[in-house]
Amino acid sequence: MTESDVVIRAVGEDEPVERLSSAFARLVPQLSSSSPPSADTLAEIIANINSVLFVAEREGQIVGSLTLATYRIPTGLKAIIEDVVVDEDARGLGIGESLSRAAIEEARRRGAKDVTLSSRPEREAANRLYVRIGFERRNTNVYRMTL
Ligand SMILES: CC(C)(COP(=O)(O)OP(=O)(O)OC[C@H]1O[C@@H](n2cnc3c(N)ncnc32)[C@H](O)[C@@H]1OP(=O)(O)O)[C@@H](O)C(=O)NCCC(=O)NCCS
Repeated sequence: MTESDVVIRAVGEDEPVERLSSAFARLVPQLSSSSPPSADTLAEIIANINSVLFVAEREGQIVGSLTLATYRIPTGLKAIIEDVVVDEDARGLGIGESLSRAAIEEARRRGAKDVTLSSRPEREAANRLYVRIGFERRNTNVYRMTL
């Protein structure tokens, strides 16, 4: 199995969400302790013009995903990559890289000047991947308030 057997694509609004739902039920636990998205949530993401859900497919199975979010602020168009995950059995084939590059291209096409993402240091494969494809670590403080 090589990277060329993998198709990367943005999910369209006409796509049935049931298949996506079962893919996310498998992928999300490999990414976070959050609950996998419901079919309605997936439909909402797909319908939202400010988010693009990318999937990687291999032999007709969804084996990876990420979401690109864009929004306009006074100083420009922001682009953020979130929820990057590749199925454990499909890692190390460049799928994470291909998904990221597809999202970067879409951000460029939409007019963003840069793309932001964050990754905890213990996510070693992810941090290596992002640096390898050209992301630079920013010296900034990231704050979060739990609501
Ligand atoms: C981070 C992640 C998306 C990368 O996906 P991927 O398709 O394996 O990515 P790539 O193949 O493009 O590169 C992954 C790196 O892991 C290495 N790797 C190789 N085999 C691997 C395996 N079986 N398992 C994990 N990593 C492997 C690759 O060699 C590569 O290392 P390098 O950058 O030093 O060359 C995937 O490991 C993952 O889903 N991790 C769990 C969730 C996560 O951390 N998401 C990121 C949130 S910020």
